[in-house]
Amino acid sequence: MRRPGDGLMFKRGGGGVGTHHRHHLKQLGGGFKGLFGRLPIAVIVLVICTVSLLSTIKRSSNQPVSRSETLWETAASGGWRPSSAPRAYWPPPPKESNGYLRVRCNGGLNQQRSAICNAVLAARIMNATLVLPELDANSFWHDDSGFQGIYDIDHFIKALRYDVRIVESIPELRKNGKTKKIKAYQLRPPRDAPISWYTTVALEKMKEHGAIYLTPFSHRLAEEIDNAEYQRLRCRVNYHALQFKPHIVKLSNSIVSKLRAEGHFMSIHLRFEKDMLAFAGCLDIFTPEEQRILSKYRKENFAEKKLVYSERRAIGKCPLTPEEVGLILRAMGFDNSTRIYLAAGELFGGERFMKPFRSMFPRLENHSTVDHSEELVENTQGLLGSAVDYMVCLLSDIFMPTYDGPSNFANNLLGHRLYYGFRTTIRPDRKALAPIFIERENGRTVGFEEFVRRAMLKTNFGGPHKRVSPESFYTNSWPECFCQTSTQNPADKCPPENVLEILDSRLEREVTSDSDKSGEWNGLLLYLVQLFRLFISCGVDHIYTSYGLREDNCLLMHCPKHARIKMVFCVY
Ligand SMILES: *[C@@H]1O[C@H](CO)[C@@H](O)[C@H](O)[C@H]1NC(C)=O
Ligand SMILES: *[C@@H]1O[C@H](CO)[C@@H](O)[C@H](O)[C@H]1NC(C)=O
Ligand SMILES: *[C@@H]1O[C@H](CO)[C@@H](O)[C@H](O)[C@H]1NC(C)=O
Repeated sequence: MRRPGDGLMFKRGGGGVGTHHRHHLKQLGGGFKGLFGRLPIAVIVLVICTVSLLSTIKRSSNQPVSRSETLWETAASGGWRPSSAPRAYWPPPPKESNGYLRVRCNGGLNQQRSAICNAVLAARIMNATLVLPELDANSFWHDDSGFQGIYDIDHFIKALRYDVRIVESIPELRKNGKTKKIKAYQLRPPRDAPISWYTTVALEKMKEHGAIYLTPFSHRLAEEIDNAEYQRLRCRVNYHALQFKPHIVKLSNSIVSKLRAEGHFMSIHLRFEKDMLAFAGCLDIFTPEEQRILSKYRKENFAEKKLVYSERRAIGKCPLTPEEVGLILRAMGFDNSTRIYLAAGELFGGERFMKPFRSMFPRLENHSTVDHSEELVENTQGLLGSAVDYMVCLLSDIFMPTYDGPSNFANNLLGHRLYYGFRTTIRPDRKALAPIFIERENGRTVGFEEFVRRAMLKTNFGGPHKRVSPESFYTNSWPECFCQTSTQNPADKCPPENVLEILDSRLEREVTSDSDKSGEWNGLLLYLVQLFRLFISCGVDHIYTSYGLREDNCLLMHCPKHARIKMVFCVY
């Protein structure tokens, strides 16, 4: 399988040949030598041209979609493609860790997934060694497979080797022949905690105790972070490092190929389940007995709130019924030959609600109808079933969530499909559709399909689009985790392809290089100047340099004439 975004990286600045002033060269040499002199230097010089990210980004938005046929293709990319490799200097995790970070991720499969991304980022921010995240034995799914039961651990650790050190458990300390356990100090992070909480409160405790244990750990690190490199790390975790175990991938692939054998197919996350209906509080369409069950569930699980059905409905707060989903698809031009994979838990209200949908779209499948293997039959409700549904929805030609409120499954998939190459999603705008449905129920059916179509045409079908709060970074990682291959704007330009090699050699050097090679400096310096001249054309007196090592072993040069272009020489 091709993995988009693998191995991409540094942005490159404009070319042009410039002159260089001797005086500057000398000055540069002196500062350079003084600062670099005692450092172990491997021969390599990396040229990283960081280009100001402040420049404007062209925001492409809704592409016109006319007929359902075009929806089977991926959405228009506007020249963007996924890329989550670092684009600025990104050193390997430091040799000296500040301590161990343990986290306990609660919630279902997908809530845990974003928590794992946050845990990796938190460990990076703190220079900590991450202990493999603990996944809550899930009371809802009755499942305790844990991280090793769901994800490929070796791949996870290897994929993140440039970012954080990861261990499976806190090792025991040996001192004077005795073994000693480090006891992790337990902390409860604030919801959506800022980075500063990790670098102060949490770090202090970590240094004091050697290890900390953050629990619970869902939504414990702010999603909007003003640091694109950190956001890209989240994408590397979410879309590259977190891979389901081989047997889950195999099972999902076999389901997908069976479905594909007869042409394209659509997946729908039909969120018409007890918990969601109780949460939304839209009870009137149910029988008194069903209403009693939902009210009871609501009372037991959610905060008390007065919810009036007609009001909730009118503002699009009620989950779409299966019938409404069918009506939308039909209005958009999908016919009864459309093959649909349903990812859903147990549908509430049963066949009564499914019937009208089934009569419009009879070719319905789910993981149990496509695959009859023991494995799924035994664990159809557990994390395995959920993981398989996730994969099938990821790979399907079209994905349609029916409720995008607090559904981590749908939200994560929207983000993943965007990253996976702008795969089409259909996101009904329930607020715009509600009045149209209400009119229809009141007998005004004329023009119904046209109204639905018009409302739907205003939505985004999975192309690049601006993230607007409360949309989550995990739902839409554009533009941080995307780049363009041909663009006028250097800030968006896709980097060359040999990035992994660069990171690899850097990591290697971190481990092996000890010898002092400062004698190579003179030749190196000349080489740097040549490179700089190659890259930028600048007036003789106007080259500014940051004189050598900033904390990250890099020398920064720039020229006021080309304010957006900076060049960094890094030495290791
Ligand atoms: C982590 O290490 C980097 C250098 O490797 C350093 O710049 C940074 O300040 C460190 N951060 C913390 C929180 O220790
Ligand atoms: C689909 O609809 C057509 C009429 O529009 C009908 O003839 C056909 O039998 C239907 N197919 C299925 C599988 O229901
Ligand atoms: C799959 O569909 C079949 C038939 O429609 C149904 O009996 C079964 O409960 C569904 N399974 C799941 C897990 O939804």
